[in-house]
Amino acid sequence: MNTNSSNSLLAVPIGALKIAEFTSDHITGNNPILLSLVIPTYKERDNIENVVNILTGLLNEAIPGDYELIVVDDDSPDRTWEVAQSLIPAYPQLRVMRRQDERGLSSAVIRGWQAAKGRILGVIDGDLQHPPEVLTQLLQKIEEGADLALASRHVDGGGVSSWSVIRRFLSRGAQVLGLVILPGVLGRVTDPMSGYFMVRRGAITNVTLNPVGYKILLEVIGRGKVEEIAEAGYVFRERTEGESKVTWKQYVEYIQHLIRLRLSTGRLGKITRKVNFPIGRFLRFGAVGFSGVFVDLTVFHLMRTVINLGLTRSTILSAEVAILNNFLWNDLWTFGDISRKQAGKRQRFKRFLKFNMVCLAGIIIQTLVVNFLFNSLGMNQYLAKLVAIAVATIWNFWVNLKLSWRVTEVK
Ligand code: GDD
Ligand code: MN
Repeated sequence: MNTNSSNSLLAVPIGALKIAEFTSDHITGNNPILLSLVIPTYKERDNIENVVNILTGLLNEAIPGDYELIVVDDDSPDRTWEVAQSLIPAYPQLRVMRRQDERGLSSAVIRGWQAAKGRILGVIDGDLQHPPEVLTQLLQKIEEGADLALASRHVDGGGVSSWSVIRRFLSRGAQVLGLVILPGVLGRVTDPMSGYFMVRRGAITNVTLNPVGYKILLEVIGRGKVEEIAEAGYVFRERTEGESKVTWKQYVEYIQHLIRLRLSTGRLGKITRKVNFPIGRFLRFGAVGFSGVFVDLTVFHLMRTVINLGLTRSTILSAEVAILNNFLWNDLWTFGDISRKQAGKRQRFKRFLKFNMVCLAGIIIQTLVVNFLFNSLGMNQYLAKLVAIAVATIWNFWVNLKLSWRVTEVK
């Protein structure tokens, strides 16, 4: 039995979210362990002892001494990590990680797997909504050759407890949306929303995982080398303590995750990697630009109706307000990772001036393109305007990326 003599917390892995191959470093004492089961927690103080106790009882029977439990807590305000740490002396196979600089369910699971020693990596919720007894079935399916063994609510023996119609609709709706955006991933399993599964370590080594939000399974199937998938039915239980942390934010992150996987895997992924075009950033830039259109039109309308300003001045001023709107969002979101390293009002003002200049040039380009398409090619004026907006958006994005948010300036 691997005993974790001290009750010290696990060091939190940093850097890329990559799982190492199984090597002799993973063997402590005289034998490697089979299963590393990660339990991601956030505000599970009242559940964690029960979870550890039940899992220990079950796994001591099924695979005595051949497993470890890894609680990965994101610095819960209720100090779940501290309760888990206090359990270590009584549960030698328990290890606890307290993350303070990162947050998020998916990355928590991966950090736990990075610290894991097992040949099979698993995940189970830390609130007893996943019936632990399914673990032995999942283990058996991996031993029978599956790369991924998934607990599913949508196969024989599966189901959910008394979920509201809304909750069922949202869960199924998310699944349908996923099937539309990423059929090659979500179409491979009956319950892509599940966070209860085991995967053979070799199926997810040497890939850089890049999840966002709650659905770690999408990342494993989307980026892993998962050939064979097996499923076991389970009924998703009601919580006895605490509550679900799912908010609208997780739904937004889910869509972001689907798009990110769509653009970076499969055929499209090959193209974007070859062209090396930052497609995710470009989509964010486009979304900001789209918001700018509404700001532009609203301000234009107010200037024309409330202040009775002339056409040209209203056009120019509303365009400038839209440019300011776009700059603020791009500086915060689209290029946030770069601008946060170029802190300071002076740096920011410099970026704004450059952004302004590039966008004003973009307006000139738009005007030239519209005139050429409308006057020389006889194109419909609205279609010409749309094409011109697309051309100007690519110009604005690319030149701003290279000039206003130039990475070389990052300190
Ligand atoms: N470390 C960490 N960080 N753990 C988290 C975080 C986080 O940001 N957010 C949630 N957790 C933990 C919770 O403490 C719980 O143990 C587990 O992740 C699931 O979170 P819930 O908030 O209880 O999710 P749910 O009940 O709505 O379940 C849904 O999501 C799960 C995770 O994908 C269902 O779809 C489940 O099937 C799924 O397993
Ligand atoms: Mn839950």
